[in-house]
Amino acid sequence: MNKILVINGPNLNLLGKREVEIYGKTSLQQIESETKDYAKNNNLDVEFKQSNEESEMIDWIQECMKNNYSGLLINAGAYTHTSIAIFDALKAIKIPIVEIHLSNIHKREEFRKKSYISEIADGVIFGFGSYSYILAVMAIKNLLKKND
Ligand code: DQA
Repeated sequence: MNKILVINGPNLNLLGKREVEIYGKTSLQQIESETKDYAKNNNLDVEFKQSNEESEMIDWIQECMKNNYSGLLINAGAYTHTSIAIFDALKAIKIPIVEIHLSNIHKREEFRKKSYISEIADGVIFGFGSYSYILAVMAIKNLLKKND
């Protein structure tokens, strides 16, 4: 079974409580369990991680290949718009990458329109709330099939 890593960045541990009008009422734990169920039905094994620290996220990205992940889904939170270090780490790995956001980042503040992750990701899914994660699993499954 292909292993997929899902990295969640800063403040996403507060989902369900944080700005619910933007991010919805679903907690990260619920998103994790729904995404895992969907992935399992699609023969994918998904692991979720969350960190508020950029360096920890970079370590996980670097370890992706060593740990035999076939694909990476990443919602880097606010680091999406600022982190050249995460961009560089993503450039160093050679597996499919799908960028995720719950909100439509193009419908919000101007500073959210810039994403360093989009410059390296195979594709981007945003604006569908927690369902963005399910759509991202669909997308990575399709990318892995193409690369087979
Ligand atoms: C987010 C969008 C980012 O701009 C924001 O900083 C987040 C969440 C999203 O999932 O919509 O923390 O990545």
